[in-house]
Amino acid sequence: MADLFATKSVEAFKADLSNQKTALKRALGPLNLVMLGIGGIIGTGIFVLTGVAAKQDAGPAVVLSFALAGLVSALAALCYAEFATIFPISGSAYSYSYATLGELFAWIIGWDLVIEYAIASATVASGWSGYFNLIAGQLGLELPTALTVGALAGPGGFLNVPALIIILLISALLVVGVRESALTNSVIVVLKTAVILYVIAAGTGHVQAANWEPFMPFGWTGVVSGAGLVFFAYIGFDGVTTAAEESKNPERDMPIGIIGSLLFCTVLYIIVSAVITGMVPIEAIDVQAPLARAFSAVGENFGASLIAAGAIVGLTSVLLVLLYGQSRIFFAMSRDGLLPPLFSRLHPRFATPHLSTMLVGGFVALAAGLFPLDGLARFVSIGTLSAFVLVAAAIIVLRRTQPDLHRPFRCPWVPWLPLATIAACLYLMSGLGLETWVRLGLWMLVGLAIYALYGVRHSRVQQNLAK
Ligand code: ALA
Repeated sequence: MADLFATKSVEAFKADLSNQKTALKRALGPLNLVMLGIGGIIGTGIFVLTGVAAKQDAGPAVVLSFALAGLVSALAALCYAEFATIFPISGSAYSYSYATLGELFAWIIGWDLVIEYAIASATVASGWSGYFNLIAGQLGLELPTALTVGALAGPGGFLNVPALIIILLISALLVVGVRESALTNSVIVVLKTAVILYVIAAGTGHVQAANWEPFMPFGWTGVVSGAGLVFFAYIGFDGVTTAAEESKNPERDMPIGIIGSLLFCTVLYIIVSAVITGMVPIEAIDVQAPLARAFSAVGENFGASLIAAGAIVGLTSVLLVLLYGQSRIFFAMSRDGLLPPLFSRLHPRFATPHLSTMLVGGFVALAAGLFPLDGLARFVSIGTLSAFVLVAAAIIVLRRTQPDLHRPFRCPWVPWLPLATIAACLYLMSGLGLETWVRLGLWMLVGLAIYALYGVRHSRVQQNLAK
């Protein structure tokens, strides 16, 4: 009989690390890690979802939605920071829970992370497509609706071709091993931060206080459902943990990277959302490329093109980080026997998990091509929030089961802070609507079926127990 709560020992993790044929080079300092975090964070959330959340959920009070989602992320970040210093390994929350809550929960978190990384990539690609179409339109190359909107995304839609193509291109890059070097990432981060600062600096002069009235047209409920949606904008700070094996001094720098990048983005997001909702009346806010179109609405056409170009470059780095992260997580799960070996098979020349990258790329490209951005984003938010609930629970469990473990960074006020994290995540999840919950439920059923049919029989930990 399998032990579904069997944990993977700290020693087993260390053995995995020393087994790796190519030890990763410890080259990243604290600033690189903050940059990496920002590289994965600033993307479709701020460039696109600000418009959706303002128009459909919160009105100008989307500012409060950003503040609320930032607070929830900060709580979760403190929990992540503790784990990242205890287990400076690349499998992120999946690995942390394997060491604490046991195999079944590890599988559930891993399955949640597929939402956070793979489905999020589809969402970001869909946002990328919105900005791409804007620029193509300006150049007189407008594509027909059938080729820019997915069949399940809106009337007249068939396939979101730009979204599909960008995913296939990035996947191809990842197969040949072109992954973000710290330098490329830093350049993109500087660029997109400059664009965001430009939005603030140039947009403030066009703000009309009257556009902020009524401030909360859909009440507090709207603020909460908006927060659930724009929580998507913060996803990525935990991506810093996937670089733990490449950090020079993970014990000190992981918390700096995770919390530093998050704080920086929170402040920017709150200001940008205030500026954009102040520039144009809510009913005139665009839901595909709201930042750029707010600028064209006030006659700043050059600014609009600049923002659109910045968004296209900026979103590309998010895609790289997310698709890369997904391949690393599947790699870890496959190494543990919970997924078939093809997910950890490396290309003989490029040394990348090529089959896994191509399979994930195909699946994500299809999702990006067919589904609406809004529905995808809410699904990503609920999946990620549910993973955060388990991470926070795991902090409490590990303090009980292994109180003497060396913890270079200690999450403050345990168990109260992790309990507050759980409550806050559930609160945001509650605003995401029944349909999103049903999707999460179905997703989990599929995941549990795969675990029952495959994972539990092939798990290395179970096989060692049976010996
Ligand atoms: N936080 C990332 C984005 O907004 C995923 O695109």
